[in-house]
Amino acid sequence: MQRNPKILITGANGQLGQVLTKALRDRHGKSSVIASDINQTSDSDEHYLFLDILNTERIKETIDDHGITQIYHMAAILSASGEWNPSKTWNVNFNALLRILEIARDKKLDKLFFPSTIAVFGNTTPRTDTPQDVPLLPETIYGISKTTGELWCNYYFNKYGVDVRSVRYPGIISYQSIPSGGTTDYAVEIFHELLQHGKYECFLEKDTALPMMYIDDAIQATIQLMEAPKADIQTRIGYNLSAMSFTPATLFAEIQKYLPTAQIAYKPDFRQKIAESWSQSIDDSRARTEWGWAHQYDLERMVKTMLDNLSTQK
Ligand code: SER
Repeated sequence: MQRNPKILITGANGQLGQVLTKALRDRHGKSSVIASDINQTSDSDEHYLFLDILNTERIKETIDDHGITQIYHMAAILSASGEWNPSKTWNVNFNALLRILEIARDKKLDKLFFPSTIAVFGNTTPRTDTPQDVPLLPETIYGISKTTGELWCNYYFNKYGVDVRSVRYPGIISYQSIPSGGTTDYAVEIFHELLQHGKYECFLEKDTALPMMYIDDAIQATIQLMEAPKADIQTRIGYNLSAMSFTPATLFAEIQKYLPTAQIAYKPDFRQKIAESWSQSIDDSRARTEWGWAHQYDLERMVKTMLDNLSTQK
């Protein structure tokens, strides 16, 4: 029988972690969700812990001390930052996962969530409507660590029965939190820069299409997958997940409807090559069929929601 969830979130100060923590606390109560991160939280939170995900003993103690039954393992170094220090990225993104999988097995946790990404795709992957099961040959160390992580999750499920679940997030767009070190970050930065300064210098080419998702959809997908009946989860590698795909030029044109004097310049840097190795659009029919995933936000709704929320924050 499933116990009442007592959840540990790693990387709770990250772009997804912050909003996920709030969503899970709204659902289960604050004391049922322990937020942790290697960065200190800005507000006082009695259910927040400083936690280094490479400190295995401390993670085990945390699980015992708080009676943890589920982990959402959100801590990671993203695609662009990862390229500056590949071995550290491997350690944080992969070695930590391996330890957490082993802890989940040893402590008989009910569930584990592992966030994967469109960065698992590479130059050999079909770039449009990318299917679930394709050869993965990622270009970045971030993609390599997440691809390997998916395979280990699958292995731990098949061999030891660890109930680990995963999605391949597209670029995530949020107003509550800012991403850091990713290739899709431009799609959040652009809102802040255009609202504050009226202009934005984009680090990707204007016609580079990438799959993207509004934060509420990403959180909904995560919780929906974690709460789905076990029998519905037919794959233990990351589920493809899709909501919208757009280029910087399309996003800018949509924002310009609200900010007509806004200006953009394109100055691609090393992130352009990373973006070009990823998919432009995703076939997520398995997530939709197997556990009922459905997105709510398209480009128009996302842009309006971002501008409404960021304007009232000022
Ligand atoms: N948003 C991530 C990145 O750009 C992709 O998962 O690195």
